[in-house]
Amino acid sequence: MIDSTTKYGHFDNDNYEYVITSPFTPSPWINYLGNDGFHGLISNTGGGYTFFRDPKFRRLTRYRYNNVPVDTGGRYFYISDGDDAWSLAGRPMDTVLDNYECRHGMGYTRFTSNKNDIEAQATCFVPLHTTAEVYIVSLENKGAVNKQLNLFSFLEWCLWNAEDDATNFQRNLSTGEVEISGSTLFHKTEFRERRNHYAFYHVNRELAGFDTCRDSFLGPYRGMHNPIVVENKQANNSHAHGFAPIASHHLKIDLAPGEKTSLVFVMGYCELDQEDKWASPGVINKVPANELIARFSSTEKAQAALDELKLYWRELLNKCVVKTPDSAFDTSINIWNQYQNMVTFNLSRSASFYESGIGRGMGFRDSNQDTIGFTHMVPEKVRERILDLSATQKADGSAFHQYQPLTKKGNANIGGNFNDDPMWLVLSTCNYIKETGDFSILDELVPFNNDETNSGTHFEHLHRAFNHVVNNLGPHGLPLIGRADWNDCLNLNCFSTDPNESFQTTQRGASDVAESLMIAGQFVLYGEEFAILCEQTGHEELAVTCRKHIDKMREAVDKHGWDGEWFLRAYDAKGNKVGSVENPEGKIFIESQGFCVMAGLGHDNGRAALAMDAVAEHLVTDYGIMLQQPAFSEYDKYLGEISSYPPGYKENAGIFCHNNPWIIISEAMLNNPTRSLDYFSKLCPSYLQDKQALRRSEPYVYSQMVAGADSAMPGQAKNSWLTGTASWSYYAAVQYILGIRPEYEGLRIAPCIPSDWDGIHVKRQFRDAYYDISVVNKAENGINKINVLIDGEELADNIIPYAKYSGRHQVIVTLVS
Ligand code: GLC
Ligand code: GLC
Repeated sequence: MIDSTTKYGHFDNDNYEYVITSPFTPSPWINYLGNDGFHGLISNTGGGYTFFRDPKFRRLTRYRYNNVPVDTGGRYFYISDGDDAWSLAGRPMDTVLDNYECRHGMGYTRFTSNKNDIEAQATCFVPLHTTAEVYIVSLENKGAVNKQLNLFSFLEWCLWNAEDDATNFQRNLSTGEVEISGSTLFHKTEFRERRNHYAFYHVNRELAGFDTCRDSFLGPYRGMHNPIVVENKQANNSHAHGFAPIASHHLKIDLAPGEKTSLVFVMGYCELDQEDKWASPGVINKVPANELIARFSSTEKAQAALDELKLYWRELLNKCVVKTPDSAFDTSINIWNQYQNMVTFNLSRSASFYESGIGRGMGFRDSNQDTIGFTHMVPEKVRERILDLSATQKADGSAFHQYQPLTKKGNANIGGNFNDDPMWLVLSTCNYIKETGDFSILDELVPFNNDETNSGTHFEHLHRAFNHVVNNLGPHGLPLIGRADWNDCLNLNCFSTDPNESFQTTQRGASDVAESLMIAGQFVLYGEEFAILCEQTGHEELAVTCRKHIDKMREAVDKHGWDGEWFLRAYDAKGNKVGSVENPEGKIFIESQGFCVMAGLGHDNGRAALAMDAVAEHLVTDYGIMLQQPAFSEYDKYLGEISSYPPGYKENAGIFCHNNPWIIISEAMLNNPTRSLDYFSKLCPSYLQDKQALRRSEPYVYSQMVAGADSAMPGQAKNSWLTGTASWSYYAAVQYILGIRPEYEGLRIAPCIPSDWDGIHVKRQFRDAYYDISVVNKAENGINKINVLIDGEELADNIIPYAKYSGRHQVIVTLVS
């Protein structure tokens, strides 16, 4: 039973932290360490894993998904004091602590616990520009008697390829190899053959012992919750040959009353050149490891690296700081939403506690969308990402659905034919140029399908994305859907009756009938963006040609895409309507309402307003906006995976959070601030602190899905962290609710805030300038006029022309009815 009043944590905004007060949260509540290739996932009890660049091919530590107890595997510290022993971070040992706290911060996590008068603390982070996790561990004797403690570290190595590691036991129980040198335990499996990389775990103190063999450390038929070595208070000095290599340091620590000691652990990764990978036959070259270790050889050095990381985040988050009358809004926008945007940008949908890191690489549509909440933070990375994505586009304008981060090659197992994919490249590119003014990205020569012999400018890639839609129209002149559009599970060309078949990679027949209104809206919206880009870059004629296609699409939507009270969703492979009042189930879908209205369709003839009213009437719940209604009660092979889910879950009428911001934006575009903000507050986790127990997922980040009204447990959230909800929510909140919107000429100020907000304050770095914007809301009956004063001077329009300003400026904005 859920005690719905239980709370497990709270925000500490002054420190940019979320404070978790129990090791027994409803699910592991995690954080991400590292943002430049070396990544760690860490739960509120130290569980999780680490990898370098690619969570499939370079997994450093082992993690057991779907295991019981949940969250097994991590960086653990066991403390023993006489006959008592406990885990510093509250698990995996069952010992109840006197006090426990976990603080997830920006790129670091700190555990503090008390037991037997010992206060223990571990701060875990990945320093900037470093291929290592560093843990600063301290122990303090707060009691009145001397303590003779044993401290054991523990982590388990993954044999690099995470998929093979979890499946190919006949081989990998014989391959594990380690080397021990002083206080450093090296993992060198497969180094003898084709790998030029190893990992290590070091502590800056002399050891009382060590273990590198899991079975020896745990003891037969024991688990991480009761290792024999901890019970015996003595390491076995085991040397792993095959089986499961681990790294565990044993330290003896004596503390007088009031005494405190601190240690630094470094778990690092090194790559070597083929020529000098060996120091001598069979002995690895330890020079790079020792260099890495030397950088964190004292607590002071490690602490300095942590301070540097904190400063990095402070500066990053300073690029856009908002203050509204609503503190939940500010908490999310100023801290956690941007933080999550960085994580989703880095990892797409590859590695979380729900994405195993072996299934999917970087998604094409996902990664393009992930940039829109992140471009203002680190634009250089976005530029690189856009060009990487562009290089996985094929010559016909279509795109690989995913690519592998290590090779940057399109993933042939999944292939393409998700017909919304190409146009997302226009969104990411235009958004990037508006933020930075860097049109040079368009001139970069980029290969098609990573084939250097066939390249075009990035601009040409966008043009082909546009044409891919034009060249793939169906019987109503609407875009063919292919395997699926944004909704991966609306598989109209799959017709699967075989449970061993993948919905997403099966496409039967010519697939030249099923059409998507979501792509139609997307094409009008981003097609128009492309036409504007053409004008911006002197391709006027092309802009005219493009607009002809866009106009035709508008007509097709007008003629064949309206169902009477809302936009249709699709036509299936037999030409039947999907998302129509005529359908017994799945009468109305969210995606086409959002995309058509964001595209400006129906703004002039009342249809947009009707569509939004229909959303409010049929799809809105207390926990967010559902994907469609009514849920499909039976599997229908003409609809595919969407109807495979039980009602109320995932795409089958769950609240699939990613698309909620499309409605938030649509409402803002139609000047309905109250609805816009209402939907935002139902979605955004910082508003939902009283629902922690029901939701289960981390209360500081968005989840992909919240169970819908038809489900057994409406409001329960799943698949936290890696979701397009993050960047879209941020984009909706800042660019449409607060209305601070980068455009080619400058920064547009067009807030859509409710009349009971008397004002807002935004500090925004934009290109060479830093604007301090105060908005006074005097509009009592809707915002009809926006007056902008910059440094006391009135602007003709509500756009601050970037060419005129650099440095710091005061902007006063008045909203009037
Ligand atoms: C998942 C996918 C995303 C897709 C969505 C809807 O979040 O990562 O690409 O758009 O599901 O099916
Ligand atoms: C499943 C999920 C969907 C996700 C897809 C990724 O279909 O329901 O959300 O996008 O898998 O492959």
